Amino acid sequence: MLRLRDRIEVGRQRRRLLRVGFLGALGLAAGELAAAIAPFARVNKIEGLGVPVPVGTKAQILERFAATDDEPILFQQGRFFLLHPPGGIIAAYRKCTHLGCAVPFVASEDRFHCPCHGSEYDKRTAVVLKTPAPKPLALFHISQSEDGNLIVDTNPLRAIDRSQRWDPAVIEIADS
Ligand code: FES
Repeated sequence: MLRLRDRIEVGRQRRRLLRVGFLGALGLAAGELAAAIAPFARVNKIEGLGVPVPVGTKAQILERFAATDDEPILFQQGRFFLLHPPGGIIAAYRKCTHLGCAVPFVASEDRFHCPCHGSEYDKRTAVVLKTPAPKPLALFHISQSEDGNLIVDTNPLRAIDRSQRWDPAVIEIADS
């Protein structure tokens, strides 16, 4: 038969064991919870979009337009095209104004053609040629740095929202 002191000691050990078991189970549960939440908590970095993108000098860009009958120049990372409307250079955000699909330039049609619901946009001005797109592609601001490079500001929050008509006032980089 156990003496009182031994019984107290056995009770202490049992409590210690229970505590260790409980803390272990708690740690395991916390680890599983963290593993389950981690993929949702991770912030997806959008490469290119939102940062200033250098696109070359005005002379280089105009030369390329001249050689390709003004074919839009895609900058995949920044998600925009450089376009050559009459009188200047603009940068069109390639997000369809209908439901947001990435709009490709289709060389065989000589225009932008959204694969999602068929909207079409003009290759020089990005105004709508065929609905359901409700308005032209938005434009990014372009500036010229001291070394002559054109810089496109790809922050969608600063993009120029446009009405249906082509308005040459949106041109920030003139041909001459
Ligand atoms: S998202 Fe482009 S036409 Fe619908």
